[in-house]
Amino acid sequence: MYAIDHKDLGTPPSPETSRVTLEVDGAVVTVPAGTSVMRAAALAGARIPKLCATDVLKAFGSCRLCLIEIEGRKGFPASCTTEVAEGMKVRTRSERLDGLRRSVVELYVSDHPLDCDTCPANGHCELQNAAAELGVTHSPYAPGATQRGAPQDGSNPYFAFDPDLCIVCSRCVRACDEVQGTFALTIEGRGFASRVSASQHEPFVQSECVSCGACVEACPTAALSEKSLAILGQPTRSTTTTCAYCGVGCSLEAETRDDAVVRMVPNRAGRANQGHACVKGRFAYGYATHEDRVRTPLIRERITDDWREATWDEAIEHTAREFRRLQQTCGKHSIGGITSSRCTNEETYLVQKLVRAGFGNNNVDTCARVCHSPTGYGLKHTLGESAGTQEFASVMKADVIMVIGANPTEGHPVFASQLKRRLRQGAKLIIADPRVIGLVRAPHVEAHHHLQLQPGTNVALVNAMAHVVVTEGLTKADYVASRCEADSFAKWAAFISQPQNSPEATEAITGVPASEVRAAARTYAAGPNSAIYYGLGVTEHSQGTTMVMGIANLAMATGNLGREGVGVSPLRGQNNVQGACDMGSFPHEFTGYRHVSDEATRRLFEGAWGVTLEAEPGLRIPNMFEAALDGSFRGLYVQGEDLAQSDPNTQHVTAALRAMECVVVQDLFLNETARFAHVFLPGSSFLEKDGTFTNAERRISRVRKVMEPLAGLADWEVTARLANALGYEMSYSHPSEIMDEIARLTPTFHGVTYAKLDRLGSIQWPCNEKAPEGTPTMHVGQFVRGKGKFYLTAYVPTSERASRRYPLVLTTGRVLTQYNVGAQTRRTANVVWYAEDRLEIHPHDAEVRGIADGDWVGVTSRAGGTVLRATVTDRVAHGVVYTTFHFPESGANLVTTENSDWATNCPEYKVTAVQVVRLDHPDAWRGRHRMQRAVPEPAA
Ligand code: SF4
Ligand code: SF4
Ligand code: SF4
Ligand code: FES
Repeated sequence: MYAIDHKDLGTPPSPETSRVTLEVDGAVVTVPAGTSVMRAAALAGARIPKLCATDVLKAFGSCRLCLIEIEGRKGFPASCTTEVAEGMKVRTRSERLDGLRRSVVELYVSDHPLDCDTCPANGHCELQNAAAELGVTHSPYAPGATQRGAPQDGSNPYFAFDPDLCIVCSRCVRACDEVQGTFALTIEGRGFASRVSASQHEPFVQSECVSCGACVEACPTAALSEKSLAILGQPTRSTTTTCAYCGVGCSLEAETRDDAVVRMVPNRAGRANQGHACVKGRFAYGYATHEDRVRTPLIRERITDDWREATWDEAIEHTAREFRRLQQTCGKHSIGGITSSRCTNEETYLVQKLVRAGFGNNNVDTCARVCHSPTGYGLKHTLGESAGTQEFASVMKADVIMVIGANPTEGHPVFASQLKRRLRQGAKLIIADPRVIGLVRAPHVEAHHHLQLQPGTNVALVNAMAHVVVTEGLTKADYVASRCEADSFAKWAAFISQPQNSPEATEAITGVPASEVRAAARTYAAGPNSAIYYGLGVTEHSQGTTMVMGIANLAMATGNLGREGVGVSPLRGQNNVQGACDMGSFPHEFTGYRHVSDEATRRLFEGAWGVTLEAEPGLRIPNMFEAALDGSFRGLYVQGEDLAQSDPNTQHVTAALRAMECVVVQDLFLNETARFAHVFLPGSSFLEKDGTFTNAERRISRVRKVMEPLAGLADWEVTARLANALGYEMSYSHPSEIMDEIARLTPTFHGVTYAKLDRLGSIQWPCNEKAPEGTPTMHVGQFVRGKGKFYLTAYVPTSERASRRYPLVLTTGRVLTQYNVGAQTRRTANVVWYAEDRLEIHPHDAEVRGIADGDWVGVTSRAGGTVLRATVTDRVAHGVVYTTFHFPESGANLVTTENSDWATNCPEYKVTAVQVVRLDHPDAWRGRHRMQRAVPEPAA
């Protein structure tokens, strides 16, 4: 019996309607109507040779290798493009068919000789396999010489294109169109002269290609192949793991040879990515073995001293001694810890456990403080759960998609590809963003409404949309009556109907024409399935929590929660920011978002951990900094977070770090925070450990060890050792035991085990007795809190406003090829695409300042100043400037202020009033303004 290869099934039918029964080589098979004969044959155990078909691309019918015979029909139709019919009798093998197929392969081989011994795809090439199967060793036809000797394109740092090996099957072109949605490739020319071309016949690296690798994955030969294959050889082992970059959480196959990663291949069974990846997860993993990795613990007395190497025992003992000393002399609240959204759930859980049980206080916080803490607060209060409501696949059932303050093609690229697929099927798109992001106009995609609001006016905009919904009678009255609190809805409806919330009244605030807001609100309300996806452009504001509540209000009022195709979905930034929040990283919550003041929960943890726990929340990150500056907070354990680069108002942060007596940094590299550290504990990359990440869909996925930790210990082992050195026993032999403990103590994780994760591939929490295999869609039937609660969301302008001194508004974001503070991606070939942070400035604002594209500019705010180069573009509106924060040299956070969200202290990164001036002498200017690097770079 032939084992079905997922690549051999032909295009799946969609949508499934009735069933059809047919015979394939005498075997009876029943399949959904619309199924291709190729797929039906594979299901019946018959393998049909093919070259241009795959199971993820639409049938194309170009190679003519998959020919079949159908009883009662003339000719030899292609099985990939022929649909099944009731009673059909198909023959897949016959001498005639094999002869025809042989001719086809011989024709290919005339243009692509079987010089397989020297080819990197030897043994893995579909043409080689087809030739072997049909007994073709050479071609009787004259060589199709036009392709031979054509120049290779090695411009992309990760993959190469060799036209000599191309059989012009068009799979790459279709993968770029259908899977990635970039439309970067075409087939140009005819016959033997036809060839694949990127954009307007440009080298790949200069073309529109975003280096996602979908074409490489689709190529049946080595025409498009990873450069690493030619260097390292074919992999011998494959380990399924999860990308450690963004919150999409793509499942990847780490393919290795002799413990070296040869390539990362997107896992077709991955529910979050469905066989796709982006340039970061697919190719930018080289940082894990970069020479900058620190492999030995380091210690120093003062931050101006040189580091000295230490053993693990010495470094752990030293840290424990220092922390004990600080607690004895300055009190038990004088130290705390920061968990990492890049580390696993198990590691994050251990750090908060170390702080609560080992340090004996609640001074634990996480980098989610500075990104999605308003999401947790806002959704918990309105809907009852601090997480997104949908799985990514839900977008394929949305009729209207609203993207607010997010840039999916840059920040969440694999989800963006899925979203674009839905848009190409006809869904409507509303974008609310101060910039003209890529989705506003992309190949075959155009936003119906781009609400280009002024930074900081989100709440006024969402209120105006809700005003239209309520005053024009567009609410879903039945839904609201049955699912939401009547009182809170009535109060909210009265509030939102007030004239000051109308689009006409808010137009002067947001800058968005009232007619556009009205049209967008009507589109969203009409749905029938309307889904909201949002990002840090919603949360990183002084009213971040208010805006999250405003979004939830709008979705509830229009009945857009609790089923597929709708919902409120935060696009989480880092790979495990959801998990870090779930695992009790905030100072006021245990795992599963249960408040530390809750007696029963505290008793549960006290019983399990064998300690007495504090009922008062501990310090948040900004409070830790304040306390450090006033002398009451003396020591900090920071796992996998670069506070000195990622937190706002760098001067303030570094002053606080410098004021502490014992800063312990655990990371892969000596990062900016390590400049202020007394102990450096080498971290482990995602390739070096077991564990789980939880993505933006609440999907828990396994991270599996691919290689041994370069420094000898995984991060969870370091935390456990530190706890033991402090006298609080932690003994786990494997992260699965930590997950078992999490599951015992957390109702939404009760049903999670590594065995179940291995069986199902991934699980979306809640996973417990009520939902043993997880919960793809939340709030079905009723909200987690019971009745949905509407909150009043009065717009309060931020105090950070443009003025005569600082007339422009700076907002921040990220680019596809770099990731957060850049520590990982800056150490990969991704710098080919983006090697410095740039300041985007509107042509008008540039002209009045005499700034030309590429000029050095100085940016000042009331917090500080920085220097970077300008990109003059109308992607930003007049009066708005924009930059990324991937490079410490430019340090965007030197200018951001300590303004923050009223409820969660999430910094207001997205609004900083600035002045921008052209610089002839950037170094001299740097010296005159308060800049980073007050502490000299220490020797490692
Ligand atoms: S590059 Fe590969 S996938 Fe693209 S047409 Fe050539 S052989 Fe087919
Ligand atoms: S790497 Fe991705 S974007 Fe680039 S050509 Fe291939 S499929 Fe298209
Ligand atoms: S989309 Fe995100 S999770 Fe997926 S490969 Fe890219 S960076 Fe990794
Ligand atoms: S696989 Fe059917 S025509 Fe190529």
